[in-house]
Amino acid sequence: MNQTLERWSSRRAFILAVTGAAVGLGNIWRFPYITGENGGAAFLLLYIAFVVLLGLPVMMAEILIGRAGRRGPMQSLGHLARQAGSSGHWRWLGLFGAFTVFCILSFYSVVSGWSIDFMVNAFSGGFVGKTGPEIGAGFDAFLADPLRMTLNHTLFLVMTMVVVAAGVSKGLERLNNLLMPLLYLLLIVLAGHAATMAGFVPALKWLFTPDFSALTPMVFIHAMGHAFFTLAVGACALMAYGAYMPDHQSLPGAAVAVAVLDVAVALLAGIAIFSVVFTQGMDPAEGPGLVFVTLPVAFADLPGGAFWLGLFFLLLLLATWTSSINLAEPMVATLQGWGLKRRSAALVVGLCVWLVGLLCVLSFSTLSDVYLIGQMTFFGLVSTIPPEVFLPLGGLLIAIFAAWVMPEQEALRALDAGPNGFRLWRAVVRWVSIPLVVVVLVSGLI
Ligand code: PHE
Repeated sequence: MNQTLERWSSRRAFILAVTGAAVGLGNIWRFPYITGENGGAAFLLLYIAFVVLLGLPVMMAEILIGRAGRRGPMQSLGHLARQAGSSGHWRWLGLFGAFTVFCILSFYSVVSGWSIDFMVNAFSGGFVGKTGPEIGAGFDAFLADPLRMTLNHTLFLVMTMVVVAAGVSKGLERLNNLLMPLLYLLLIVLAGHAATMAGFVPALKWLFTPDFSALTPMVFIHAMGHAFFTLAVGACALMAYGAYMPDHQSLPGAAVAVAVLDVAVALLAGIAIFSVVFTQGMDPAEGPGLVFVTLPVAFADLPGGAFWLGLFFLLLLLATWTSSINLAEPMVATLQGWGLKRRSAALVVGLCVWLVGLLCVLSFSTLSDVYLIGQMTFFGLVSTIPPEVFLPLGGLLIAIFAAWVMPEQEALRALDAGPNGFRLWRAVVRWVSIPLVVVVLVSGLI
């Protein structure tokens, strides 16, 4: 397959696209609830350390491979491996990435669908005046309704695949240019609103006063997986975007900008969410329902609550939309590499993800007592193992490929940070990121 000629139209477009991929459920839904479950500040610190030591250098490795290969992930890896005189089997890493995003997208689309339902319900005043138990029961009833869940899952997936089918420059860029600034604006308004609440100071204390006794090997695994997940690293998804990165743009600069924007969203969302949680005296360790249960309860009593809540779910929907587009891209790029037209590829991917997504939908009703590995439902399994095991594993292989296998000149050129910048990046990947992933993975899994 020949190199792609498609490019993001500007540096800004590239940063927006990668930020759009990074900021999503991970920041707004997953970050608050796993921080809540893992004890707050100590987890937060660990996650930020992993973002800096692992997420960022591996993100650069991943984008660099895509940029040097300028093809779909599988094809880029195969091409660069052969160029380096190494085994063409490296291309299977691209397929592993596609499998990972496939699993992730199947639950991602279902949870994102919840935000469509909740947004409509919130704006139409459906939560106003309801008590905590009523809202909790409403959420349970929603989960137990496969038809309503399927409808939202379908809607969300169609939204995603339509943009993917339109292609990068036409579809993604226009959407990102519009959505990302709006997202930040909404988030700042919400966090500003949170600052007026009684729970604001307790939320800050809880988020920023670490208790290191809470750290166990499993907490390390959760924090590492989350760092990969939130930055969208480890599944060759950013590799697919790197293929369209313009020449003459320093990669580390772009990656740092993305990581800062990503962590900022998580912190702003965390502050907004925990301020309402503490104002209402609720439990931060509520689990995956945190955003969907506690926030409607919290906003139900507040002046203008219906509007703020609706706005929040709109924000969540916009953020997940740009991420799911990125999740779908490596699969579509791979199928394109096998000769399919972009539209047909988008249709095939959409249909397959939709079908597996149905199993996630049913995990809350018909299949709720079917337990797979480790007492998890199908939903539990695909929302845990791919982010916490597959992404770090994929990231590890990506890092090894970029720092040890790829021809040095290619890597140097694709990083575009000068010889010293390149040496620094490579030393960090070789001697910090790679050993760290191995140690955390091994200690967590045994
Ligand atoms: N980063 C996205 C989020 O935080 C999820 C994602 C993971 C996207 C892996 C692409 C690849 O929601």
